[in-house]
Amino acid sequence: MSIRPADDRLPYYENPSPGTGTLPARAWYADSDAARLSLDGSWAFRLSATAEGADTDFVADDADTSGWDEVTVPGHWVLQGHGAPAYTNVKYPFPVDPPRVPTENPTGDHRRVFDLPEEWPADGESVLRFEGVESCARVWLNGRELGTFQGSRLPHEFAVGPLLRPRGNVLAVRVHQWSAGSYLEDQDMWWLPGIFREVTLLHRPALSPTDFFVHAGYDHTTGIGTLRVECDQPGRVTVPELGLDVATGEEVAVAVEPWTAETPRLYAGELATEGERIPLRVGFRTVGVQDGVFRANGRRVLFRGVNRHEFHPEHGRAVDLATMREDILLMKRHNINAVRTSHYPPHPAFLDLCDELGLWVIDECDLETHGFVELGWRGNPVSDERFTPALVDRARRMVERDKNHPSVVIWSLGNESGSGPGLGAMAAWIRERDPARSLHYEHDHDFPDSDFFSRMYASHEEVERIGRREEEPLPDPELDAHRRSLPFLLCEYAHAMGNGPGGLADYQRLFTTYERCQGGFVWEWIDHGLPKRTPDGRTYYGYGGDFGEELHDGNFVCDGLLFPDRTPSPGLLEFKKVIEPVGITGDAAAGTVTVANGHDFAGVDHLGFAWAYEVEGEAVASGELDVPPLEPGGSATLPLPAAPADAPAGEAVWTIRATLAADTAWAPRGHLVAWGQVPAVPAPRRTPAGPALAPTTAADGIRLGAGRFDPATGELLAIGGLTLAEGPRLDVWRAPTDNDLGASWQPQARFGVIWRELGLHRTRHRIDAVELTEDALTVRTRVAPAATDLGLLTDYRWTAAGDELRLTVSVTPQGDWPCPLARLGVRLGLPAGLGQAEWFGGGPGEAYPDTTLAAVLGRYRMPVDALQTPYVRPQENGARTDVRWAELRDEDGAGLRIAADPAPFWFTARRWTSARLDAAAHTTDLVPEDTVWVNLDHGQHGIGSQSCGPGPLPKYYLTVAPAEFSLVFTAVAGG
Ligand code: GAL
Repeated sequence: MSIRPADDRLPYYENPSPGTGTLPARAWYADSDAARLSLDGSWAFRLSATAEGADTDFVADDADTSGWDEVTVPGHWVLQGHGAPAYTNVKYPFPVDPPRVPTENPTGDHRRVFDLPEEWPADGESVLRFEGVESCARVWLNGRELGTFQGSRLPHEFAVGPLLRPRGNVLAVRVHQWSAGSYLEDQDMWWLPGIFREVTLLHRPALSPTDFFVHAGYDHTTGIGTLRVECDQPGRVTVPELGLDVATGEEVAVAVEPWTAETPRLYAGELATEGERIPLRVGFRTVGVQDGVFRANGRRVLFRGVNRHEFHPEHGRAVDLATMREDILLMKRHNINAVRTSHYPPHPAFLDLCDELGLWVIDECDLETHGFVELGWRGNPVSDERFTPALVDRARRMVERDKNHPSVVIWSLGNESGSGPGLGAMAAWIRERDPARSLHYEHDHDFPDSDFFSRMYASHEEVERIGRREEEPLPDPELDAHRRSLPFLLCEYAHAMGNGPGGLADYQRLFTTYERCQGGFVWEWIDHGLPKRTPDGRTYYGYGGDFGEELHDGNFVCDGLLFPDRTPSPGLLEFKKVIEPVGITGDAAAGTVTVANGHDFAGVDHLGFAWAYEVEGEAVASGELDVPPLEPGGSATLPLPAAPADAPAGEAVWTIRATLAADTAWAPRGHLVAWGQVPAVPAPRRTPAGPALAPTTAADGIRLGAGRFDPATGELLAIGGLTLAEGPRLDVWRAPTDNDLGASWQPQARFGVIWRELGLHRTRHRIDAVELTEDALTVRTRVAPAATDLGLLTDYRWTAAGDELRLTVSVTPQGDWPCPLARLGVRLGLPAGLGQAEWFGGGPGEAYPDTTLAAVLGRYRMPVDALQTPYVRPQENGARTDVRWAELRDEDGAGLRIAADPAPFWFTARRWTSARLDAAAHTTDLVPEDTVWVNLDHGQHGIGSQSCGPGPLPKYYLTVAPAEFSLVFTAVAGG
């Protein structure tokens, strides 16, 4: 019989306290003149199935590890051929019995032998530093145990000087996948054990700082910056550019340019003690909540943010410097100005890059206990005092490590951990240590420990209510008064899973209308898809369940603005447009354009403005636009040039673009920042190509102008020389997007589910009549799924003139529909050879009713294959909005032209049907058919964000109602 041990007899990996033997937390810095030795690279590695399954003989000098494998450090062993990654969102993938963990506890023994460089100094101390190990480590050097630690995304150091020898040092690290700490690390992401950040030996010279704290404030009323560097060693702080040379601990005031995310002004300096010289990069800024508004240097900040997990498709959370930089460049190039480091402190070098390139950072502690929600929060570690020291330890390690970054303006206690005194203890410690930054925590809606009223996935309506300060009161008047005094943040919104998110522009309007609503952070930056191969060698991205997990949350791990390979998704392009820092609108009748500076701090002098006058998407005249200097919030209305007198006939617009006038650290000169289009000349009315032609019955079918139809069904079989694979007929379904399918916890109707239940994907088309009249062929049908009396009476009226065939579709719904339609339009099939698309309309990328802002009216040409958006889980994608005409042609240029008459349509073309798209689980399941399927839609249902948040706003519903629309088809000859 075994007896459950008392906590003090638990093994270290089940002990909830912070570990043993480590040094106090301190500031991180990239470089100094003290010696350092990287211990990254190839390490000997052995995996055991249990924590105690292998002996610890490997820590000895003479241990034989010749039979071991090797892994790369930094890295995760599960991504290097040992075991497998696993994905769960909320649920713990082990029985919940804190602080105990399962006996099956994959344990990786790591061993590395190293020599000291010859010049390694003999004085002072040497410190062994681990930047990140998941989830618990026990460490030996030269056979001596140094200690143990938990807290995966936080640094841990040991003093090792006396143990070092010139040659043949044996560093041994045992890493357990599961520990008491795992209960604090239930973030929605892959479980990825390993030494995933650097291991370094750092020399600590005698009289070098143990720690230092740079306090650099800015008084916007005077333009004066103050600097004081606290340090436990006497020393000097110099900032040559400011002529500063002061003692540590001494405060100086000097006129400076402030640091902001828009103007990331850093001053190079140095902290010199007798033992060490440490480069400093000082950014002067003062942040905090004043009068209910979060301000930097006295001005309100509008967060145009994203939540960033650390992710690399090959390396998991072992993200290299180049990838970190790429993330920030991509953010800056898409007008993003803020990052929440969801839900743990990132690699410290990432924050250096944020300082340098300019991003506001919410630095979030490595804490999430969301899995306890499944238990009604019973046993939540933030209410279990055995965990309190570990919680405070985590807060301390984060703050001490990251306190010298000007980009970090808000500390966040963690994510989705309920409420409890453990959080209060963290908050108290942070407030005491660093009162100059604000504090954030979302999951306790009383907000006792937060300087923000923060929510995730709140609906537009709720945000608006909060903006108006009309939120539902809290039962406790004191807490309510406190919450009413707080600025509002959406720490997560706009769930970017699959196609979407929709409704971004409507949120942005609220953020710019209500001072209290200071923006938000889209969930999330990148899809965490891990590459896999089909048996025949094609690669695709896998998600939860693809790695043999018994419990998983499927593709919920792929909900980013970037695809796993960091290609921007349409959602990111939409976000870029929605949050552009300059608004460009105009009035062609008045001949003016208005440029509004939406920056919080910067002017517009770093931008160049250019106009183009475009007819049917072709620029016929262009020039520069002189924009005067504009203060943040300022605007100017400027005259547009006269429309060119010799412009050809056709629909015309003014397109005005704001681009970088000079190279910046994050994008080259010419990079597009903002744009606007002003309609100038509307589309001319179509005139019929000739007198109306009459239908006739011939041996091979009904003839009407260029069209040939099936006499029994009325289906269009051919037009001109083009034989169709399938004639146009009503289509009201789409392969549900993740947002259509919605999340089980959403109270609203989940239309993707209802469409399937109702059978929109299996409608039947009953032919009631094929009628020939003098000038038309009319096909009367009823479109309806089985087992219901709901239906859509659908008439197709065909007329012809010259070589044009005009189709008018009239739809009359029957019955009481419980949902909007997914789409309303016709689908037709074309020969596979018609693989080249061209259109005049919105583009170049996809758009749906609530994701249209990024679409630029223009003329585009691309292969059908390039019209597809490769969502990791295939789903409806690729619609082009506001299309005036579209063509599909073969190599010789022969094909079909479809023109709007007059209402523009949504144009989609793909080499598989919606049914195939719907059936696919991964991109490699999509195999081209020998038909190009074309959807021409009069309407589409909105996208919304219901895979986690609210669905589309009602104004984007494709409500079931009588509708009529027309399209004109022409066969185009090749050659
Ligand atoms: C939030 C959570 C995130 C993520 C998101 C859904 O509730 O904070 O970590 O799970 O939902 O993707």
